[in-house]
Amino acid sequence: MADSSSSLPPGPLPDGIVSPQVVARTEKRWIMAMAAMLVVMVAIIVVTGVTGALHPASNVEIVDPQTVHLKGEFVESNLGTAIETDGSATVRIVAETYAFVPHCVTVPAGAPVKFRLTSADVVHGFLLPHTNVNTMVVPGFVAEVRTSFAEPHEYAMPCHEFCGLGHHAMWAHVSVVPKERFANMSSAERTSCAKQ
Ligand code: CUA
Repeated sequence: MADSSSSLPPGPLPDGIVSPQVVARTEKRWIMAMAAMLVVMVAIIVVTGVTGALHPASNVEIVDPQTVHLKGEFVESNLGTAIETDGSATVRIVAETYAFVPHCVTVPAGAPVKFRLTSADVVHGFLLPHTNVNTMVVPGFVAEVRTSFAEPHEYAMPCHEFCGLGHHAMWAHVSVVPKERFANMSSAERTSCAKQ
């Protein structure tokens, strides 16, 4: 192609042919446009990371997906919301095709909340809209996300990682309730979708 420029006829160029100067100028503009887009995207990542605590889970913790139900932290009796001695809440959830276990969790408002999740089978996603909670749930690993909720609220929680034919139906609920009310709830109520 480089040779064709030297063999261009003098005078106006035929239809569909542009001069090498125009090509070079256009390419330079596109490179600048792409560079500007990159700068904007990196700036968005940095700004949301600093101001909204939106960032990828940083802990690498492994767990055996084959025995996740049978022993260790994610046995059924240990799932749901636990209150730590410092008053913070830890929520443990197992994601599996096509449900979160437990399906509903309740957490207290105004306290630090730590979500710890793992998958029993394929990659799922865990997202609480309009919060900084957004992580993939990968089998073999524990995903941990820290947040807190200022106000009581009901969150519908969709799986946002395509995980199979039932993906669209994989929803769970996180219910943020006032601290005093949370303290009076039984552990069964804390993992129930029934209206209290
Ligand atoms: Cu689980 Cu999509």
